Amino acid sequence: MVKFGIIGAGKIAHQFTKALLGINEYLYAVASRDLGRAMEFAQIYDIEKYYGSYEELLKDPEVQCVYIATPMSEHYKNMLDCLYAGKHVICEKTFTLNYKEAKIVCNLAKEKGLFLMEAMWTRFLPTIQEVQKVINEGMIGDIVQIESFINLRLDLPLESRIFSKALGGGALLDVGVYPINIANLFLGIPDSFDTEVKFAKTGVDSEEKITYFYPHSHATLYASVINNDKKDTYIYGTKGYVHIPGFWSTETAIVFNNHHKIIKEIEHKHIVNGMEYEIFEAVKCIKKKLIESPIMPHKTTLDIMRQMDEIRKSWDLVYPTEL
Ligand SMILES: NC(=O)c1ccc[n+]([C@@H]2O[C@H](COP(=O)([O-])OP(=O)(O)OC[C@H]3O[C@@H](n4cnc5c(N)ncnc54)[C@H](OP(=O)(O)O)[C@@H]3O)[C@@H](O)[C@H]2O)c1
Repeated sequence: MVKFGIIGAGKIAHQFTKALLGINEYLYAVASRDLGRAMEFAQIYDIEKYYGSYEELLKDPEVQCVYIATPMSEHYKNMLDCLYAGKHVICEKTFTLNYKEAKIVCNLAKEKGLFLMEAMWTRFLPTIQEVQKVINEGMIGDIVQIESFINLRLDLPLESRIFSKALGGGALLDVGVYPINIANLFLGIPDSFDTEVKFAKTGVDSEEKITYFYPHSHATLYASVINNDKKDTYIYGTKGYVHIPGFWSTETAIVFNNHHKIIKEIEHKHIVNGMEYEIFEAVKCIKKKLIESPIMPHKTTLDIMRQMDEIRKSWDLVYPTEL
C-alpha cells in the first residue's frame, strides 16, 4: 500500500481525505502550519501521525506520497521540498503560478525518478473517459465547437484566497483551468486565442470569456467566481453533440444526434466524491514505478501552464512571487 501524507489542512484536503479513506487507501499523516489544526484534522479521520509543519512531515521516512492542498502560490516550493525529500507528489490544480515553475518541478521529478501529477480530477472521471471514447469512435463526427462554462458564485470576501494576488488567486487559476483542460483534452493546443476579462478590486480576474481558435473549430470557455450562470460543457460535432452537466465533477453525459435525439446516455456514479479516480491512478502509477500518469502527463500540465501564462500576459496580470 502507498502511505500518503497531506500538507495543508484546508477545505479540499477534507474532500481528498474522504475519497482516500473511502477506497481504503492508507492516509498515514497530515501536516498543517498549525499543530492544533493538524491534530484536529487527524482526530476527525483517525490519522496516525500529525505535524505542525510541512517540514516535519517531509522528514518522516514512512511517508511515500504527498498530496499538496495549499494555495497556488505555495505549490512550487511545496513540490520542490517534497521531491528533494524523496516523496512522490500529487499537487492540486492549478499546478504552479506559471510555466517556468512547472517546468523546473517536472524536471526535478524526472531527475529524482519520483511520481508527480497535477490533481486535475476531471480528467480521471469515468464519465469524461467514456465521452473521450465515444468521440474517438466518431459518434458525433468531427468536433467543430466546444462551449464550456464554470460559473461559481462563491460569495467569498475579497480577503479570501480566491481574490488574493499574493496567494495566486483569480478565476483563471482557480476554476478557468477546468474548461481549459476540456478544450485541451478534445482539441489540443489552440493556434490563437481571444479573451474578455473582468477584474476584482484586488487586481485578480473575477470572470472571463476565452475563445480558443483551431484550424477547423473553436472553443468558447467561460469562468467566473462571481456569478452562478451555466456549469455545463457542450461538444458539438458534424454528426451530433455531447452535453456534460457540471462537467468538472460529472457523473453523467448525454450524446445527441443532429436532430436533438438522445443516442447515448453515459452514467458513472462516484464511489465517494469523484476524487477517488485520481487517487486510483496515482497509486497504480506509483506501483508501476512510473514518474507520470499517462492520463495527466507532465506535458499536458506544461502545455496548459503555458496557455495560462499567455492569457495572463494579455491581461498584464503578474503574481508577486512568480518566477
Ligand atoms: N479539486 C478540486 O475540486 C478543488 C477544489 C477546491 C480547491 N482546490 C485546490 O486546492 C488548493 C487549496 O484550496 P482550498 O480551497 O482547500 O484552500 P483553503 O481552504 O484556503 O486551504 C488551503 C490550505 O493551505 C495551507 N496554506 C499553506 N500556505 C498558506 C498560505 N500562505 N496562506 C493560506 N493557506 C496556506 C493552509 O493549511 P494549513 O494552515 O493547515 O497548513 C490552508 O488551510 C488550491 O490549489 C485549489 O485550487 C481544488
